[in-house]
Amino acid sequence: VKHGVAPGNKALYPAMPYPSYQLMPDEDLAAMYAFFMSDVEAINQPNLESELPPVANWRWPLAYWQVLFDRKRDFVPETDDALLTRGQYLIEGPGHCGSCHTDRGIGFQEVTLSNTDSAEYLSGAVIDGWRAKSIRGEHRGLGTWTVTELNDFFKTGRTDTTAAFGAMAEVVEHSTQYMTDYDINAMSSYLKTLSPAPNKEATLPEKEDLTTQKLLDGDYDSRGAILYAEYCQVCHRADGKGVARIFPALDANSAVYSKSADSVLQITLSGGRMPETPHDRMAFTMPEFTNLSDADVAEVVNYVRNSWTNQAPKIDVNDVVKMRAFLAKKPKTSTDIAPDLSIDTQTKGAE
Ligand code: HEC
Ligand code: HEC
Repeated sequence: VKHGVAPGNKALYPAMPYPSYQLMPDEDLAAMYAFFMSDVEAINQPNLESELPPVANWRWPLAYWQVLFDRKRDFVPETDDALLTRGQYLIEGPGHCGSCHTDRGIGFQEVTLSNTDSAEYLSGAVIDGWRAKSIRGEHRGLGTWTVTELNDFFKTGRTDTTAAFGAMAEVVEHSTQYMTDYDINAMSSYLKTLSPAPNKEATLPEKEDLTTQKLLDGDYDSRGAILYAEYCQVCHRADGKGVARIFPALDANSAVYSKSADSVLQITLSGGRMPETPHDRMAFTMPEFTNLSDADVAEVVNYVRNSWTNQAPKIDVNDVVKMRAFLAKKPKTSTDIAPDLSIDTQTKGAE
């Protein structure tokens, strides 16, 4: 678990985040071992075949990878504050947040494993076609979030204005929702100490909302506006504010106006389901819009990312073509498959 070595001296691929788990104390690993041996029932099931292409599927070079990229390191607290140290430890160690949120280098190694080492830490990367966006202090990171909102997000998978989706829905559903309130608050408090990522805007200029009134008046000034009114407005509303805890806001939502459009593009093409937790009545789903043409998907994605107070770089048709090709090959995972609920059942209770 700590060094990526299986019985028989077999080296594990770094998809298993052992460079993070390395920070865990031996008592915690002993506790997990005891749990697996006593409480987890053994089953007899062959592993799935590796889908890695030849050469990439050779295991022996992994031993060299480990020498280069999995150097032994110790946890070094940034401050002597107990809460922040706990948060830093959970994020760098067992939470392995960097394995999705930190960019990887040519060797598939995370470019940095801690904030002390580099401010590239947690500044955003792509995982399974989702943008695990920056969670540092700039405007497009977590600059606009409060600690209370982050606590809510990790515990329930939503806030009054946003919902975890894609790979992050799995993180909340299978992991953070079970953490204690103290640990969740420790992580949120630590995240809010991270400075803006290098070369990213700490704040964005204010922008006036000219979208809401036009939509309410039926004054559609672009193809994107027509598509939004027809396909999205029923849930996300004319003011882009959605419905608290049911339909996330699209306006002023950092997941929507993040620099990379990948996440917005993927959820539009493949839909999504909020994580399931006992804290909210239902996990609502977003339908997939596979039937829209590539040009229309680009229009509606650009529209939601640049309407109301949002400002974000635009995409073009080629980005949609690429994402569709990627999705055609992507294996379906539990949270990627949105149950087929009609809009009627979706909006029940939302009005
Ligand atoms: C399996 C990959 C993965 C892991 C591991 C992961 N995340 Fe995420 N995270 C994502 C993706 C993808 C998104 C974008 C989707 C969204 O906003 O829900 C995201 C979004 C977020 C957001 C919302 C940001 C915003 O502006 O909307 C926060 C906060 C966050 N992650 C924190 C964390 C923390 C803290 C950890 C470690 C405990 C973590 N994540 C681990 C993939 C991951
Ligand atoms: C039937 C209601 C419904 C419709 C129609 C709908 N959405 Fe959504 N949308 C949702 C729900 C529910 C979520 C949360 C899904 C999740 O967390 O996985 C969501 C999430 C999103 C998100 C991610 C924001 C976040 O914080 O979770 C984006 C971006 C988005 N929708 C864009 C669109 C666009 C663009 C359209 C129209 C083409 C659209 N939606 C149509 C219900 C809807």
